[in-house]
Amino acid sequence: MNASTTTAAPGTRASKLNASPIVEEAIDRAIDEIRKVQSGITAVRPPLSEELAARYRELLAQASEVRGKSKLFFDYHGSGLGNGPFVELADGSVKLDLICGIGPMFFGHSDPELTRIAMRAAMSDLVLQGNLQMNEDSTQFSNLLVEEASRCSRLAHVFLTNSGCMANESALKICYQKHAPASRVIAFENCFMGRSVTMSQIGDNAGNRAGIPLSTLVDYLPFYDAERGEASTRDALARLDRLIERYPGQHACMIFELVQGEGGFNPAPREFFVALMERCRKAGIAVWVDEVQTFGRTGEMFAFDLLKLGEYVDVCTIGKLSQICACLYSKDYNPKPGLLSGTFVGSTVAIQVGMHILDTLRNGNYYGANGSIAQHHQRFVAGIEGIASRHPEWFGPILSPDDTAMKHIKVAGGLGGMMRFTPFGGRKEPVNKFMYNLYDEGVLSFYCGHGPYHIRFLPPLGVMKLQQWDAAFEVVERALARTFEEISRKEAPKAQN
Ligand SMILES: Cc1ncc(COP(=O)(O)O)c(C=O)c1O
Repeated sequence: MNASTTTAAPGTRASKLNASPIVEEAIDRAIDEIRKVQSGITAVRPPLSEELAARYRELLAQASEVRGKSKLFFDYHGSGLGNGPFVELADGSVKLDLICGIGPMFFGHSDPELTRIAMRAAMSDLVLQGNLQMNEDSTQFSNLLVEEASRCSRLAHVFLTNSGCMANESALKICYQKHAPASRVIAFENCFMGRSVTMSQIGDNAGNRAGIPLSTLVDYLPFYDAERGEASTRDALARLDRLIERYPGQHACMIFELVQGEGGFNPAPREFFVALMERCRKAGIAVWVDEVQTFGRTGEMFAFDLLKLGEYVDVCTIGKLSQICACLYSKDYNPKPGLLSGTFVGSTVAIQVGMHILDTLRNGNYYGANGSIAQHHQRFVAGIEGIASRHPEWFGPILSPDDTAMKHIKVAGGLGGMMRFTPFGGRKEPVNKFMYNLYDEGVLSFYCGHGPYHIRFLPPLGVMKLQQWDAAFEVVERALARTFEEISRKEAPKAQN
């Protein structure tokens, strides 16, 4: 099935519009034009002119002013056009986008096929769909998602939302209702859940909840520590046992990020999760897997499938590359009417594009040991290791917050399309400086981790070609050299004193 072409029932006026040769021809012509114009966007380049650069600076100043911020995180405003992993900014410069808005743009910028679907979806009567007013495509998207999830788990139902955070809010309500009056949740240290009042409290970052009254009862467990291996699993399990003893029957759920995202792109072996999930199951605590960041990119569509954990999962949230976010749950966790609803679950464009993305992912050659995601990961690791062996001075021993060397953390890691590397020992200031230099030199990235700090890529592997890593590493190398020189210059006077 090509899911994206089955959104209007045969015989309806809508299907007549969908089948109209006039519409088809108009879209074909627009897509041809997009292809032609975007073909000029093939490499990183600076702004087109000083005039455009000045206009851009003014735009950024306006953006800061209107948002009440002294400065935007990145000096980023897109022009509205791109080509695969390359994106044109409003000053005519071109960047190589290896972070994709922290994940959603897995199929890059201005993908002709996705644009074609978006154009058709834009003809729908509904700009945004919600629970009272939805079209057939909303249920088709839901069916597709449940079909994929239920192949490898007990997940049987889905509620669509317009953000990962709202998917998480829905999951939490489901867990609370099922286990009422249990009022506590268990989460991993350094987790991230979104930015609502509740999710900011569960997310383990003090800065993200500054000034928020603490009303959610959260107990934290340490995530897997690769250096300590099985001992780390034993410790986490012992901590979980103590929590269960301390608060018998009071935990509604435990939240699992199978690869920690904001926490540092930390994977963990299956055994670690099995031990904790078994214990949760025995204690009647819901197992909720937050796949908002992992979904679609770790090597299987669901990371719980990659790790063969499907049998344990009661609730799962997804988002980002799916365009529409969702909370999936098993039959046992099906909530009572009234618990979940909303005026908007998302736009028709997002639903139809999301459906095409799911369809493409499941039918393409992305997953498995020899899938394209695995090949990209190998290419990424080899590229970073190559730079590190030529320039060890740009990397150095990776240090914990208390300055002990963390030998088990390699210079490059992560899982599948979640890629991280750790220059300058993972120290906050130089890693941050490097991230901005990298931006300036032409590659979009982001950081992760809370010490050590890492650079993370969530590249558009849906469209990126293996050979395009060469261009990426060229820029990475330039930015590393520049950062190293800047740091050395700054530190030299200190060393002389
Ligand atoms: C693991 C995880 N959960 C939830 C969220 C929140 O998603 P959103 O930003 O779409 O609300 C994120 C976002 O980065 C995430 O990484």
